[in-house]
Amino acid sequence: MEICTYPDPVLRRKAEPVGKVDEGLRKLCERMVETMIRADGVGLAAPQIGVSKRIIVLDVDGEFHILINPELVSTSPETEEFTEGCLSVPGVSATVKRSAEATVEGTTLDGSKVRITGKGLLARAIQHEIDHLEGRLFIDRLSPARRESIRKEYERNRREKK
Ligand code: NI
Repeated sequence: MEICTYPDPVLRRKAEPVGKVDEGLRKLCERMVETMIRADGVGLAAPQIGVSKRIIVLDVDGEFHILINPELVSTSPETEEFTEGCLSVPGVSATVKRSAEATVEGTTLDGSKVRITGKGLLARAIQHEIDHLEGRLFIDRLSPARRESIRKEYERNRREKK
């Protein structure tokens, strides 16, 4: 399963809510988990494999979650700055300011509701993956000057790869 990379328009779309959990949805989640593990990521959102649906998977410090229709229910006013990257914007990273703590609610594959509160990397991953469902990328959270320099570095890397 290939990962969609910036500037693929699917990464900019607001993802659609998921209806009922069926076999197709289970397969999709399985593919997302496989793709995340193979890419050595800590999280993945469905739009990153070209599916504009509200599903995220997380794998942070031994905490593993598949969340359907996740909602960010609260974030702490305290923030933290940390280096961040994205499988859809490969080869570049930047310091991004995010809430130090985040709580997400969603549905699991067996239909039960879950609420997860994370700090540190888990809080960051939750906010980063929810951003994907809104069509937002981590580069959008940088200052215009920083974003422009990251974008140039990214374009340069892509040209060199071709
Ligand atoms: Ni990402």
